[in-house]
Amino acid sequence: MQSKERRGRITVPELRARKAQNEKIVMVTAYDYPSALLAERAEVDVVLVGDSVGMTMLGFADVLPVTLEMMLHHVQAVRRGLHRALLLADMPFGSYQIGEEEAMRSAIRLLKEGGAQAVKLEGGALIAGLVKKLTGAGIPVMGHIGLTPQSVHLLGGHRLQGREPEAPERMVADAKALEEAGAFGVVLEMIPADLAAKITASISIPTIGIGAGPACDGQVLVWHDLLAIPPGRPFRHVKQYANIGEQIESALRSYAEEVRRGVFPSKEQSL
Ligand code: KIV
Repeated sequence: MQSKERRGRITVPELRARKAQNEKIVMVTAYDYPSALLAERAEVDVVLVGDSVGMTMLGFADVLPVTLEMMLHHVQAVRRGLHRALLLADMPFGSYQIGEEEAMRSAIRLLKEGGAQAVKLEGGALIAGLVKKLTGAGIPVMGHIGLTPQSVHLLGGHRLQGREPEAPERMVADAKALEEAGAFGVVLEMIPADLAAKITASISIPTIGIGAGPACDGQVLVWHDLLAIPPGRPFRHVKQYANIGEQIESALRSYAEEVRRGVFPSKEQSL
């Protein structure tokens, strides 16, 4: 539905219904106010403040150092820029693994202080009990299986998942467990397209793919990947829709050169 026809925010039940309506869900990550404004103008359905913020914005090598306080800082900024898109917040590493009480507290903070409408957790059957508790408390949850970056050391890197012979059965079971626990969707990251299609067909809640082929009910890309910031060769699963990194660098070079030559500020910019 386009923004001209609708009032208010996109809701979790609306997103769930998209699957039956065969309408794709468009999700993108964003981490700050101006990006949220742009995602909103582009009529994206879901803005995810991912813990990828640690790598894209904060310069960490992986997502593990990201804290709940860091997430809240970015979720709040994105909240200020959104009025229509659903705001989904990642629960960072350490905010839900220690115990259910702490997980509940973390999720509540993301909704209460951050203004998120839903949270995303990594894991399948193993976190089903927690997903049930959170949804029971009125907190919408999206699951995340396949490449789960918070388990980077266990997985041995950021690489394609699901190639082992038992993986299809395990991942379908994980997705079903999340659905049964009340999750409203599942991110499928870096798994073969045919496996993602199989998972998508075996559950009634939407799957959102990243490096998981075209059969998913929606797609998500990381802001910096799709805009090529910084410039560079993309991962195979990424399509770069613009070269914003190059444009920013070129603009900064022009500015620096004009300052050095005494061309900026000119009379026009002088008060
Ligand atoms: O943190 C993130 O950006 C994510 C997406 C890759 C789904 O979890």
